[in-house]
Amino acid sequence: MARIALGVTGGIAAYKAVLLLRLLSEAGHDVRVIPTANALRMVGTATWEALSGHPAHTSVFEDTTGAEHVEVGTWADLLVVAPATASFLARAAAGIADDLLGTTYLVATCPVLVVPAMHTQMWQHPATRANVQVLRARGTHVLEPATGRLTGTDSGPGRLPEPPEIAAAALALLAEPVLRGTRVVVSAGGTREPIDPVRFIGNRSSGRQGIEIARAAAQLGAEVELVAANVDSALLAGLPVVVTHVETAAQLAERMVTRAADADIVVMAAAVADFRPAAASDHKVKKDTGLALTLEQTPDILAGLVARRRPGQTVVGFAAETGDDAGTPRAHAEAKARRKGADLLVFNEVSDTKGFGDVPNDVVMLDAAGSEVARAAGSKADVARAVIHEVARLRGVARMSR
Ligand code: C5P
Repeated sequence: MARIALGVTGGIAAYKAVLLLRLLSEAGHDVRVIPTANALRMVGTATWEALSGHPAHTSVFEDTTGAEHVEVGTWADLLVVAPATASFLARAAAGIADDLLGTTYLVATCPVLVVPAMHTQMWQHPATRANVQVLRARGTHVLEPATGRLTGTDSGPGRLPEPPEIAAAALALLAEPVLRGTRVVVSAGGTREPIDPVRFIGNRSSGRQGIEIARAAAQLGAEVELVAANVDSALLAGLPVVVTHVETAAQLAERMVTRAADADIVVMAAAVADFRPAAASDHKVKKDTGLALTLEQTPDILAGLVARRRPGQTVVGFAAETGDDAGTPRAHAEAKARRKGADLLVFNEVSDTKGFGDVPNDVVMLDAAGSEVARAAGSKADVARAVIHEVARLRGVARMSR
């Protein structure tokens, strides 16, 4: 959980900052709002206080007991100002500290994200351009406004970006690039094993969990390749990683083994077929001839990667388990962790509502001895961040002990 100070200035888009506050809080962060006096003409104190659970002061004279004019700036891990008016940009550029937001901006040593919103003419005015340049030169992150409908009937650049976009930019600043310089290869999706040129044996994996793992690693500065087995390309749009497409378990194995030779972190999130037709027909099998399949086992790619693990390499596997007569899902997962020997085995129980597709996930991370080292629940992105965080932690510990 990070501590976020959210400055709101007096633009009409202040109402969108309410949604931004909600998104940042729902992402698990502690948010304190600092509205300017003009922001309160748009959205009142009660809204900011009720939604943040903190007092929302404007002036440095409202609470003088705790030196709030200094305290909020030192408290914050991140300062976001959204919307930022032309006037705020000018005051920040000049270092004018005549209210609580102004003092907080000068005190803060954390990353600062400023999200301007104003009419196009104001945004394009040389005074504003110069102020933005000063702020950027100082290391303040200034988002480009969106282009679209403005307050009245006019439209152009100057519109506040939508709250989810601002929240994503804010959260990206919170993530320290602890994996910078680290090479990561992640497999995702489900393999398809051909029966004939038109049929295959496949599985229900969408690839979402592996995609989110790749994204989470990239967000922490890693150089990532995603080896995608039959993943819908719409899910890959905008993903900041190199993607290699494969279809079969054999192709996936070949690519993973090649990339793992110089990777620091290897994640096997793909659902690999355990069996494939021993021989695929090179022509379409006709319905009236009948179809008897002889299956052969595919090699266990994860086990192979563990066996070839380079010194210092972290190998992560996944295990989706259901219970049966022989044991609970957890017991199967613990046995698998010991059998596979990965540094981390991310186990989730599969049921109608958990595991596959666009549904929340709930995982337990086990070490190679089958002992629990961490848990995570939430969206696949939340789980991915937790897994990558655990990998980073493991690598930190490994570095220290050597
Ligand atoms: O044995 P099981 O398939 O449940 O193990 C799951 C883990 O092993 C996943 O990380 C999956 O990517 C990997 N796996 C593999 N090669 C196989 C089967 C599974 O690497 N043939």
